[in-house]
Amino acid sequence: MIHPAELIEHKRDGEELAPDEIRELVLGYARGEIPDYQIAAFLMAVYFRGLSSAETFALTDAMIASGETLELGAALGRKCVDKHSTGGVGDKTSIAVGPIVAACGVPFGKMSGRGLGHTGGTLDKLESIPGYRVELSIDEFVAQVRDVGLAIIGQSGNLVPADKLLYALRDVTATVDEVSLIAASIMSKKIAAGADAIVLDVKVGDGAFMKSLEDARVLAEVMLELGHRAGREVVCLLTDMDQPLGRAVGNALEVREALDTLHGQGPPDFTELVLDACARLLALSDLGVDEAEGRARAEQAVADGSAAAAYVRWVRAQGGDPDESALPRAPVVARVPAPQAGFVTRLRAIPVGLAALHLGAGRRTKEDAIDHAVGIVCLRKRGDEVTAGEPLAEVHARDEPSAARAAADVLAAYELTAEPPPRRGILLDVVA
Ligand code: URA
Repeated sequence: MIHPAELIEHKRDGEELAPDEIRELVLGYARGEIPDYQIAAFLMAVYFRGLSSAETFALTDAMIASGETLELGAALGRKCVDKHSTGGVGDKTSIAVGPIVAACGVPFGKMSGRGLGHTGGTLDKLESIPGYRVELSIDEFVAQVRDVGLAIIGQSGNLVPADKLLYALRDVTATVDEVSLIAASIMSKKIAAGADAIVLDVKVGDGAFMKSLEDARVLAEVMLELGHRAGREVVCLLTDMDQPLGRAVGNALEVREALDTLHGQGPPDFTELVLDACARLLALSDLGVDEAEGRARAEQAVADGSAAAAYVRWVRAQGGDPDESALPRAPVVARVPAPQAGFVTRLRAIPVGLAALHLGAGRRTKEDAIDHAVGIVCLRKRGDEVTAGEPLAEVHARDEPSAARAAADVLAAYELTAEPPPRRGILLDVVA
């Protein structure tokens, strides 16, 4: 029998907890036997003191043990690959990666999450597709991955229930951005969902939980170690989240951009990330190809229309209308003109994410309903040259007053200078 207050005290004082103490704490919380306030205090102690690698492993293990696990590879009789992002602004990568990977003949079954703070969630984006069902039973999920090659659903209630509880508590206690907590949260879900090989997109910069490349590397290494201890192959891409990814921020707008990308007409940074992630997923799959061949096959799937066709099959199988015209559109579209000529040297991701959130694209409380039509389209991004008065961005809003507010916020996220900034690609590093 553990005493939570004593364990909180030990962690607060910088001591290392034993694996079974962490296990009891997590499982006791998941069973409803330990109250939120004690776990909130424990999370804050972890935030300041961190966890050792043995403690992080014990936390991950306990979170997995809080629910069921799925052996997707065994159920399909194939090696299964998965991808996960640590969260950013405008990150619709899975919606484009899934159909490309499936079109290349590799099964892709993914459980995604909802938005958190200024970051959007893939599930919220997919729900802008009329009819799309995010909740499939595990059996339906496995059957769809087998028959259609692709399914993206919400995290099943029975898989890692401790993460659902901890995640919600972290969100409201300022304890999200701690390396061990993020690593355990992500890897417990990936391991429980049964992928054999995982590509992790670790976001770095203003709009990410990890603000510096050094912190992102530490997070990548912790996740890599957790994956290896569970017998999984893991590759971490460290990618730029100083500015929003692609142009669109907001649910239906992002689905539209993912669709454009599947038709070969996506923004350059987003297209690059999608193709890179696909190349690595295909190289980790049972196709027996290297990254260069994976990249060539991914490009071919876009060029020959098979990736777009996989999107249609997938969305139909999940009850949605795959037609672009079925996606909701906001009634008001306002332009954000450049106040002067120059080069965009900065476009800060968080203010753009928050402007979209305030328009209704995200939730301020867990109960908030999302307006899927609204959001921002950043027409100009870092390095682009603009003339005075030319639109920097578009605001898609429900009404004029909210459009005007968002336009002012988006303008404040831009920095224009006379000289162009140094060039910087989307991929900053790879940890494998
Ligand atoms: N994504 C997750 O799934 N968990 C975290 O803690 C942060 C991002």
